Amino acid sequence: MQTKLLKKNQINEAVDLLKQGELVALPTETVYGLAADALNELAIKKIFSAKGRPSDHPLILHIDSLNKINDWAKNISIHTQTLADNFWPGPLTMILKKQNHISSMITGGLNNIAIRIPKHPIMLEVINKLGNGIVAPSANSYQKISPTKPIHVLKTLEGKIAAVLDGGISSVGIESTIIDMTKNTPIILRPGAITKEMIENVLKIEIKCPFKHNQKVSGNMENHYQPEKPLFLLSIDEIEHIAKEQKDLAIMCYSKISKNSNAVYYRMPKNKAKYAKSLYNTLHEIDNTNAKKILVEMPPRQNEWADIVDRLVKASKKIG
Ligand code: TXA
Ligand code: MG
Repeated sequence: MQTKLLKKNQINEAVDLLKQGELVALPTETVYGLAADALNELAIKKIFSAKGRPSDHPLILHIDSLNKINDWAKNISIHTQTLADNFWPGPLTMILKKQNHISSMITGGLNNIAIRIPKHPIMLEVINKLGNGIVAPSANSYQKISPTKPIHVLKTLEGKIAAVLDGGISSVGIESTIIDMTKNTPIILRPGAITKEMIENVLKIEIKCPFKHNQKVSGNMENHYQPEKPLFLLSIDEIEHIAKEQKDLAIMCYSKISKNSNAVYYRMPKNKAKYAKSLYNTLHEIDNTNAKKILVEMPPRQNEWADIVDRLVKASKKIG
């Protein structure tokens, strides 16, 4: 199939394709999502084959209004309500008890459903015009880096999906924070732009954010978020040392570094939000070069950077 590249004024065409049961990659503020009508099981099935994703991996349901949450989830707690009031629309996904009628293709057979109200105006308009919820994993092949621009989507899904709708570069640049609200104490399953501290500040309770857990989140698998080339997380001193001895390196650093002709340098922002926005974009860019290895300066070990550290650790190889 030929994948159409739709412009931002072609929202109605994207909606028509979704109504016909086709897959369309849509812009969100986190990353591009591979969208299907959440009430069409045949369309949802296509997501798993297009991505090469195991069929028991659950999908995030995207809705456009809090009024619709009871159509999909039940037992909404005060804490859930508070997080929705503070962070929706936005980069937060909540795991909630599902309503009985929800297709097990969405939930991977679990009793819970992951729900998010995204902030991107184009995504919201598509959901609104479709009239149903939209299920959307990140619009990339299984275990590859998430897309923050249409061209990144085409890299792994061209020919496998009906269209990509261009909504510009994703402003957050990293997948949403996922928080499980079904336990007594909420647990962050995947760190994101909405941090543990931001959540604790509004809930006024301590929440959990384990570095490792055994819940079924694909970001929890080894070898997730892999760029095409091996990536190593190192200190600036180690990077300078390696750059003296090895060739064909791509180096991502936010500190000042003495440069060497063996490497191409990508200066990363020191500001965390800006770093997140350019992270996947830079990795996609490096994949298109002749570099043989990617050396990344370890970001600050501060809680605020937890999402970036999480993605880089999962993308990295163990030895330098
Ligand atoms: O920012 C995002 O969250 C993007 C945009 C498109 O919304 N979506 C995204 O989807 O990152 P995906 O499928 O690449 O990652 C969602 C993660 C998966 O690892 C999945 O296993 C987990 O959410 N998940 C979905 N439903 C779940 C559930 N009921 N319980 C536990 N984890 C769940
Ligand atoms: Mg993904």
